[in-house]
Amino acid sequence: MSAAGHALSLQGIGKRYGDFVAVRDASLEVASGEFLTLLGPSGSGKTTILMMVAGFVEPTAGRILLDGRDITDLPPERREFGMVFQGYALFPHMTVAENVSFPLRVRKLGRAERDTKVRAALDLVQLGRFADRKPSQLSGGQQQRVALARALVFDPALLLLDEPLSALDKKLRAELQEELKALHRRVGRTFINVTHDQEEALSLSDRIAILNHGNLVQVGTPEALYERPATRFVADFLGKSNFIEGDAVVDAGGITLRRGGARVLARGTADGPAVLSLRPEKIVLLPDGAAEDNVVGGRIASWSYLGTGYGLVVETPDLGPIRVHLPAWRAAVAPAEGLPVRLGFSRDAAVAVLEDAA
Ligand SMILES: Nc1ncnc2c1ncn2[C@@H]1O[C@H](COP(=O)(O)OP(=O)(O)OP(=O)(O)O)[C@@H](O)[C@H]1O
Ligand SMILES: [Mg+2]
Repeated sequence: MSAAGHALSLQGIGKRYGDFVAVRDASLEVASGEFLTLLGPSGSGKTTILMMVAGFVEPTAGRILLDGRDITDLPPERREFGMVFQGYALFPHMTVAENVSFPLRVRKLGRAERDTKVRAALDLVQLGRFADRKPSQLSGGQQQRVALARALVFDPALLLLDEPLSALDKKLRAELQEELKALHRRVGRTFINVTHDQEEALSLSDRIAILNHGNLVQVGTPEALYERPATRFVADFLGKSNFIEGDAVVDAGGITLRRGGARVLARGTADGPAVLSLRPEKIVLLPDGAAEDNVVGGRIASWSYLGTGYGLVVETPDLGPIRVHLPAWRAAVAPAEGLPVRLGFSRDAAVAVLEDAA
């Protein structure tokens, strides 16, 4: 397989079904060799975008370019994209090797060339020794890898993945995520993956595009989206967050948000009504006398043991209930309901986000 990937450009694409807008004015540049994930809740338009890229759904607005060439009106079979869907539809009556060989037969490659390519593709997904088995003799994860091999065997310009791992149990899914990442590195192709699993998106992607109600709300690296979510929806969907509403004024280091008698130093440029996102793991329980940019007193209202630490809900007089994730090694005392605590968090931990458009 050659090393070069291909660049994809979505230019204001949209899809309407009658009055219903499934995707609205989506623009996105996917770089050659990039692993991009479309992430969003059910019905947000992920599959619709993927199907427009594949050519199975015709956009009602916008253009799609591959390496600068307009492919909007090109039929799917001429786009030569590899695809893997949820539920790995392998042909049950064919062996693994015959399944993987299928796209090559369609393309009328000779026997010797087919055999070489099938072997290479099966080696790529580490299933070489299962070539002669039927799909029914494989585990779900192995079947999924056969589907991946079948999508990669003809050296596609793009690999389109629509929740390929969602049918698998959590542990197997985590293993295949690792393999998918390694596979992407080995083949150097452009991958577009669809998921509504935020952990999968964070761990696999070079960049993530977040969708909500057919709108692309934010595109960026996993770190950028997690650390600098643009909207309340992004902060809430990618990880967990507390939201603190109040009135903001600009100060020397960012903003100060007032709420009741409390003042919270935060990042942002908002002036007026604002909402802050504050991640539970960025809050610590301060020992007596210790200082932090923000210090908030409260009492533990409830707590649960999570294995990696404790999840606390701390009721505070001014900011309401605040969720805190406390790593076990940092918990100096065992949590207890009613226990008074002092919460500390840096200015950097609290970031102003926009309210989402209704
Ligand atoms: N052929 C169609 N006719 C009418 N509406 C459609 C059609 N296909 C999809 N939709 C609607 O478009 C919206 C987006 O659907 P899409 O399949 O892209 O969502 P998704 O993000 O992939 O969701 P999921 O996570 O559930 O797979 C949904 O509200 C869906 O009902
Ligand atoms: Mg879908």
